[in-house]
Amino acid sequence: MSLRIINSDSLLTYPYVYPVLVSKAFLEEGFYRKLKADWPDFRKFRAEAHYKSPRRDVVTVKGNKNYLKLNETFRQLFDLFDSRDFRNFLFGKFNIAQARKNGLTESPENSILQMSICEATDGYETPWHVDTRRRIIHFLIYFGSPSLQGGEFGIAEHRKERSILHYKQYPNLMNLRNARYFSPHDNVAVFILSQNDSYHRACKTKGLRRFVYCSYNAGSGYAWKTGKWGGHSK
Ligand SMILES: [Fe+2]
Repeated sequence: MSLRIINSDSLLTYPYVYPVLVSKAFLEEGFYRKLKADWPDFRKFRAEAHYKSPRRDVVTVKGNKNYLKLNETFRQLFDLFDSRDFRNFLFGKFNIAQARKNGLTESPENSILQMSICEATDGYETPWHVDTRRRIIHFLIYFGSPSLQGGEFGIAEHRKERSILHYKQYPNLMNLRNARYFSPHDNVAVFILSQNDSYHRACKTKGLRRFVYCSYNAGSGYAWKTGKWGGHSK
């Protein structure tokens, strides 16, 4: 699958305490419009609720039932993200040698792609958190809708712990600062290297918030060294 369907030059490093990449127009315009027009009808898929929240996900991994039902445009998108070329492009944008110093134990090249097509509605939000330690990289691409209000994607810096191993999945809000927010506008994409202090959240949403959520995950076990993972920071 060709990298021509992304605007690779548009993906820029966001100056932040942990590795974040942002694009204001990630997919090639024509392809983006086609994806938006071909947005799947969730009734035809096995869609699951996301942690009992007003969000439903059509989870696709290579070869699963949802993957096999994807229309050609979304199949193309999945196959691009799963391709060697795209993985090389993306992993090259992050400093993997530095990530290893920060506890990455898995090789991104061997990771498994999961692509979820997501719809959230009124009241959806997530608390500040760091994702499962199986996750190496995750990213979101937004598909704006006329009814959408709020629903920004937030990133936050945590007070420095003595060791990268000491961060916990859920922070004490008193320990966060320097938050930045990205509006879920058409074709905006945010990529995060999921290291132990990569705190982020989805802000309260009104209306329909459509997005594609992708992640590269370790095949089994944690991708990151941890010490005091789990629970809340003090
Ligand atoms: Fe998350």
